[in-house]
Amino acid sequence: MQCYRDKILTMDDIISLCKRRGFIYQGSDIYGGLAGTWDWGPFGIMLKRNVMQAWWNFFVDKRPDIFGVDAEVIMNHKVWEASGHVKTFADPMVEDLVNHKRWRADHLLKDHGIDADGLTNDELTKLIQDNNVKSPDGNPLSGVKSFNMMFRTTVGAIESSDAVTYLRPETAQGIFANYRNVVDSLYPDMPFGIAQQGKAFRNEISPRDFIFRSREFEQMEIEYFVHPDQWEAEFENWLKLVHEFLEQVIGLPAKMIHDYEVPAQDRAHYSKRTIDVNFDYPIGQEELMGIAYRTDFDLMNIQNATGKSMEYRPKDGGEPFVPHVIEPSFGVERLIMAILTACYTEDEVDGSKRTLLKLPKSLAPVVVTVSPLLKNKPELVAKAKEVYNQLQQAFPGRVNWDDSGNIGKRYRKADEIGVPHCVVIDFDSLNNDDVTVRDRDTTKQTRVKVSELAEYLGK
Ligand code: GAP
Repeated sequence: MQCYRDKILTMDDIISLCKRRGFIYQGSDIYGGLAGTWDWGPFGIMLKRNVMQAWWNFFVDKRPDIFGVDAEVIMNHKVWEASGHVKTFADPMVEDLVNHKRWRADHLLKDHGIDADGLTNDELTKLIQDNNVKSPDGNPLSGVKSFNMMFRTTVGAIESSDAVTYLRPETAQGIFANYRNVVDSLYPDMPFGIAQQGKAFRNEISPRDFIFRSREFEQMEIEYFVHPDQWEAEFENWLKLVHEFLEQVIGLPAKMIHDYEVPAQDRAHYSKRTIDVNFDYPIGQEELMGIAYRTDFDLMNIQNATGKSMEYRPKDGGEPFVPHVIEPSFGVERLIMAILTACYTEDEVDGSKRTLLKLPKSLAPVVVTVSPLLKNKPELVAKAKEVYNQLQQAFPGRVNWDDSGNIGKRYRKADEIGVPHCVVIDFDSLNNDDVTVRDRDTTKQTRVKVSELAEYLGK
């Protein structure tokens, strides 16, 4: 086999495979789409669930010190006032003075090779003018203004200022708002963490790069509560855990992962230290997830806003204190984009180009595809159905039935979906009670007894 891995992988390669094979579609596609929204197709949702489950297993199920919650997307507006999001959760925006389209000022400058991180609106405006930066449509631009990214909505039938709230822009605040509840009901030992997975919404000015920057996405976050003296050691520990998860559980190549110490002027308003864990995407090296030291910023804000104590009473009778927080924050879509980037492969089989996703078996949406060699032979179909039902018991929901086209086409389709094995039932199967198992990565074919098949595929 000849390997095409040297070819430069583009975002279009990934987008086109995702659409072709039922992973991810443009949101509201049938109505012409809605910018910055994406829908998950049959194989996409299975991949996404496997990835989210792998995260939950590693960070929650396997640890006695981390507890899950599932808070609401819509919360009291006071949450977002106390957290600082109403005032500061904004991106720098410019307007095309001719067609009034809006763009992110720092992104336009970056596209011109100018680093614009951490600058004020006035500094950005000056850079745009000095470098004669135009809108992507070639028109002059307005000065830079701040644009709050939260989606506003109203709750209930009466439109008053109290009814206004926002779709959550991070899952973190649902955790902080439940810190007191969890301490009161469980009284966990310190340090401990609270984890949440769920939707987050940001009205991005210019969503781009497929699912990398969208308006609705999924986060997996942990707020890990520590004694203030312990934050540095815990931060280092979390950095190691994040790498262990990405490299050993998810299987991303270590050489494609890079830690970036975010300078003070570029950090979020709540953070005293942030490391962005970046990945080599087809669009370049960009943030996959971040680890932030949020100090006692959020709990103190809640304490001040509600008058309720956020102190933790140490079990050894020590001084009560408001815990500090280390926050590892993952975006599901960026993790999936990293997986697709790392697993997308092209090679040559039987003289023609083949595309395959080398997904680890634990993440692959489908573990095995089952096919009768010919679909118009009832005895083959019956035997294949028997094998299919048996494998469904072993791998519930992760077995695919395919009797379309010829075997070669079925293999190519399965390769693009990332199915590790294809099982084919032929005439010999009827006499010998065995099947052909074809391996995705090597294309090698092996005869395996039906009675040993589940064990063989589970290895
Ligand atoms: N609670 C902290 C927080 O939300 P963030 O860096 O703004 O921090 C965390 O977001 C993660 O969420 C990012 O590292 C990224 O993986 C994901 N994320 C943020 N904005 C996103 C967007 N517009 N589209 C897709 N993923 C996004």
